Amino acid sequence: MRHSCCIHYNVLFLLTFTTANTLASNSVTAKLHQSATLSCNNKCSGVVTWAMFHNPGNILAQCNKTKCWSEKGYEVSHDQYLKGKILLTITAVDYSNRALYTCVCDGVDACDVRLIIETLTSLVQLNPGQALVMVLPIPEPVEVMYKARDSADLYGAQICTVTQRSLQCQPEYTHRASLSYPNITLRDVNMTDSGTYSIRDRKNEEVIHIYTLIVNVVQHESGRNFETWIGMSVGLFMLVIIVISVVLVMKNRRKKSRNREKTDPEETIKLNGSTREVRSRQRSDSDAKADQLARQMVEMDKLIQCYKSESMRKSQSWTNRNDIPVVEMLTMKKTEMEAVVQDSEQDTVCQWWRLKRPELDTIIEHWTKYNTELDQLKQNLCNKVSHQSNHQTQCPRERRMVQSWPGR
Ligand SMILES: *[C@@H]1O[C@H](CO)[C@@H](O)[C@H](O)[C@H]1NC(C)=O
Ligand SMILES: *[C@@H]1O[C@H](CO)[C@@H](O)[C@H](O)[C@H]1NC(C)=O
Ligand SMILES: *[C@@H]1O[C@H](CO)[C@@H](O)[C@H](O)[C@H]1NC(C)=O
Repeated sequence: MRHSCCIHYNVLFLLTFTTANTLASNSVTAKLHQSATLSCNNKCSGVVTWAMFHNPGNILAQCNKTKCWSEKGYEVSHDQYLKGKILLTITAVDYSNRALYTCVCDGVDACDVRLIIETLTSLVQLNPGQALVMVLPIPEPVEVMYKARDSADLYGAQICTVTQRSLQCQPEYTHRASLSYPNITLRDVNMTDSGTYSIRDRKNEEVIHIYTLIVNVVQHESGRNFETWIGMSVGLFMLVIIVISVVLVMKNRRKKSRNREKTDPEETIKLNGSTREVRSRQRSDSDAKADQLARQMVEMDKLIQCYKSESMRKSQSWTNRNDIPVVEMLTMKKTEMEAVVQDSEQDTVCQWWRLKRPELDTIIEHWTKYNTELDQLKQNLCNKVSHQSNHQTQCPRERRMVQSWPGR
């Protein structure tokens, strides 16, 4: 109760002197175990005395014109004092140093400075089942506040209190929390225990230490198996995709090349580059040649079939439809074929021609012989007739009888 009185006095004090504008009040935040210097902006040429506000009788440091003096753990510099600076240094800040300090100049309050220690923070990462140990740095009554990670509260809700070295906790924590001064231990943590635990000084209403607890998510065997399964599935799926792609590309390529063989050169010009066009034109040229050759071979076969029979020779005419003598026509065809076969690089065509040429030669020979016989017969007949009638008859020298030529 004395404490709340002090705070009350402080407020009064602050109000009084702020309005009087003769004193200033401020605060200094220091790190635990490090040094901190309190300073007073007012000047003082007389005797300077530092003390805690709530314990003014216990002088911590003092300076006069001749020398300075301080208690253990506090320092004042005489040089600084002579320069008119009113400073008090606390060499290693501890929780016992937390207080409102008052500086008195020749018996008159010069200023008040509050020393605050920075809130400590710790990150603790534990596996489920491990214990969280929180150290109590102060003997004063403290409380432990728990805030879940997703909670909107600043510090959360009180779960335990420590007063006179005894621990009282909320029912859900009693079986897991224990105090072994200065440690509060929370055993057997679980994922749901993740969050922040704040050690709060109830006397000074200050948060001293905040522990942030992260309880690791332990992957169970089944979970790991599931992950492995997922990984393998994904791998297999990718493999299948790759194989399908390759097959499709190959198919497409083969189809394209087949199409290219089929396509008209003119279309090829539109669709593809110039190199492909040339190639396809060459290809179609050779195709046309092959076609022509095949046609000529068929024609030759037909001619041979048509003119080889003896009966045909006797019953039919000497000339073909165009009035070209058969022998001449056959000879012409033979010459044509000879040229084509010479050009052709195909062995099959040469073999075929080797068989056909003698046959054709024989036919030509027969036709020539037959024609000569016929000519002679006609000549004789004509001469006989002209001789008998005494008429000067012009007997034919050449065969120019127009008859239809079978076949075609
Ligand atoms: C200064 O203070 C010291 C002790 O703190 C004392 O012995 C001395 O007499 C004082 N001097 C004056 C001038 O007050
Ligand atoms: C308190 O916990 C710390 C570790 O956090 C340990 O080193 C120390 O021995 C503990 N003290 C007691 C009294 O259990
Ligand atoms: C953690 O809590 C879950 C329920 O929230 C419970 O099923 C599980 O057994 C607990 N694990 C441990 C290690 O306490």
